[in-house]
Amino acid sequence: MTSFYITTPIYYVNSTPHIGHAYTTIAADILTRHHKQRGDETFFLTGTDEHGSKVYRVAEEQGLDPKTYVDQIAEAWRELPRLVDADYDFFIRTTDEGHKRFVQEFIQRIYDNGYIYRDVYSGLYCVGCEEFKAEAELVDGKCPIHGTVPERIEETNYFFKLSAFQQPLLELYDARPDFVLPRFRYNEARSFIEGGLQDFSLSRAGHPWGVPVPWDDSQVVYVWVDALINYVSALTYAREGEDLREKFWPEVRHLLAKDILRFHCVFWPALLLAAGYEVPKQLFVHGWLLLDDTKISKSVGNVIDPLDLVDVYGSDAVRFWAVRAVSFGQDGNVTLDSLHERYERELANDLGNLVSRTTAMIARYRDGRIPAITGDGGVSDVIEAVKREVPTRLDVFDVTGAVDVVWDLVRSLNKHVEQTKPWELAKDEARSADLDRVLYDLADGLRAAAVALSAYLPRTAPLILRALGQSEDLAWENVEPGRTVPVEGIEPAAPLFPRVDPQTAAA
Ligand code: MSP
Repeated sequence: MTSFYITTPIYYVNSTPHIGHAYTTIAADILTRHHKQRGDETFFLTGTDEHGSKVYRVAEEQGLDPKTYVDQIAEAWRELPRLVDADYDFFIRTTDEGHKRFVQEFIQRIYDNGYIYRDVYSGLYCVGCEEFKAEAELVDGKCPIHGTVPERIEETNYFFKLSAFQQPLLELYDARPDFVLPRFRYNEARSFIEGGLQDFSLSRAGHPWGVPVPWDDSQVVYVWVDALINYVSALTYAREGEDLREKFWPEVRHLLAKDILRFHCVFWPALLLAAGYEVPKQLFVHGWLLLDDTKISKSVGNVIDPLDLVDVYGSDAVRFWAVRAVSFGQDGNVTLDSLHERYERELANDLGNLVSRTTAMIARYRDGRIPAITGDGGVSDVIEAVKREVPTRLDVFDVTGAVDVVWDLVRSLNKHVEQTKPWELAKDEARSADLDRVLYDLADGLRAAAVALSAYLPRTAPLILRALGQSEDLAWENVEPGRTVPVEGIEPAAPLFPRVDPQTAAA
């Protein structure tokens, strides 16, 4: 059995989730559900990043001790996947005892392997990024992402010999041209490595909030190192009495946005090599969702609460929009109008109406019985294309391209209705066999589309299969022409995507 382990970044709990976080979580869930359909053994990890200055300061501002603060807010973050129907296997919190213990073990190994030394550090620290910044990276003396002036910090702490990994990382990138996708992100990471790697400080002195450095408890582990290690630590304690590393490491795919590329594509593999672990199987770096050309972000304040969207349109529509709005991998500007427009055009009309029409015609012209038909109809090729193409595209994380292929099927079924005009066939007894054929093909195409779409539309897909009286077995092999069974009792289906008043939506 093939193992498929996927992760989202663990999100900072300095405030509540917005649609940008839901974006990565949705993509990870689509990929996981698809791999399940293929019979793979899957593990989907998400969670929260709870240490660091950023979180500590918010707790302070609210007059709470950090643990009380993170315990409260972690609940809002647990809601995020539930809200968008993301069926994760484990929700990690970096304040979990199991995680903290593992972080200590992990960095102790790096220390024992000789890749950690003590030195004085002086630099400019952006709390928003939780990262030291080089003067050259600043714009008008400010962090280009957060627009804030970084703080000067000088302290003695422990350094990680990242410089020792320049050569091994270049060899890794050369040996595995698909290590980072899309290709332009691979190039970006590789040229960063080629440009020379500097050691970085792996601990912070005198910080009350973090995982203590095992050999010097006056220091805590740097929040990014603490956070990255979650991808392995979770496997050691997610299932009591089981070490999931045996099954899932290094079969891991990390999803992340471009702002945290260096941490994931450069620092993380180096830390793993230093600790004696294998590097991840693959990393996929997606773009930013932009609202009016500005990144949706807590610091900028232009957030869209996923809760509001799900309330109005339902989780399937939000999932669908997330992957349709922007080609996965690219940056893209989104508007709420575009969500509304897509909901009506694609979900309500292309798909919803097709289900209503097909079931209504079967009810009306054939007394609710799907005709028994064999042999090749007009839609087999398009179903075959879905069966073949969707997995190929999803293997390279192309969640947008894969759903395009399924949409070709949905559109061609609509075209088929327009071209064959079943309502005219129904008037002519001599063409009864033609009508049987058309009704069967529509039902069969919709059934195959529902199975293929189930990773994207987990609520809607079973409704379509039920409306057609077909098996709800979502195994990928069912995306195959001719598997529709002739059943009776089909009734006109209720609308799958009811009208939403744009006024309500805007409010
Ligand atoms: N805590 C770190 C990650 C540590 S992982 C070991 C962090 N947290 S974050 O809360 O800032 O989340 C960043 C991630 O959220 C991005 O990498 C991306 O997955 C997602 N996104 C947040 N805003 C986004 C957009 N506007 N657009 C797309 N993805 C966005 O960084």
